[in-house]
Amino acid sequence: MSYSIAIDGPAGAGKSTIAKLIAKKKGYIYVDTGAMYRAMALYFIEQGISVIEQDKISEAAAEVDVTITYEKGEQIVWLNGRNVNGLIRTEEVGKMASASSGNKDVRKKLVELQQALTKKENVVMDGRDIGTCVLPGANVKVYLTADSHVRAVRRYEELKAKGQECDLDVIEKDIIDRDYQDMHRELSPLKQAEDAVLVDSSNLTIEQVADAIIQLCDKGAE
Ligand code: DC
Repeated sequence: MSYSIAIDGPAGAGKSTIAKLIAKKKGYIYVDTGAMYRAMALYFIEQGISVIEQDKISEAAAEVDVTITYEKGEQIVWLNGRNVNGLIRTEEVGKMASASSGNKDVRKKLVELQQALTKKENVVMDGRDIGTCVLPGANVKVYLTADSHVRAVRRYEELKAKGQECDLDVIEKDIIDRDYQDMHRELSPLKQAEDAVLVDSSNLTIEQVADAIIQLCDKGAE
């Protein structure tokens, strides 16, 4: 049986950085499910579909091909055979991903893909519904959160380091709006699974959070 660690939480809580570090330390595969929703969202944008056109989103979701491969431990997301890793990290794609992820056909297709990945491999998987829907039987479940202002400052510093102009208040507002959208959708909304451990990363370093999660795995193995 493969081993799985589920990490859910709002945007900017540090899920992907921490999940990647844990995957490296444990020799597991890191599955970034947000990247799959982003790849589909990119397709909808490229097809000129807006978020209010739910029928078109369903049709497009049925025809699009999203697959995942790994190269040197790095997840590559393929959209209709095209590597889209470099195209999915924009605000526009993030917003479309958040909005279109409420569509049941989008979720069904991607949840199946995510569950198939865990059949063969030990995984650290992050997202919004991993502990609640995708891997209800995960060995360790964590709900990772942080204060919205702390998350906004982290994002602001990331963008500044890349030399991008940005406004802290706008970033914080976007984060709060995205949290609301992800937590209030009808299907698989973001929430803490009953058996998930709550970790607040506001005052912790990446290493501290990763170590705390690894300790949870070790405890479960005792
Ligand atoms: O984690 P992220 O910012 O890359 O995710 C983009 C959006 O995708 C997020 O706002 C909601 C959606 N998502 C989801 O609905 N379920 C997941 N398991 C992962 C992401």
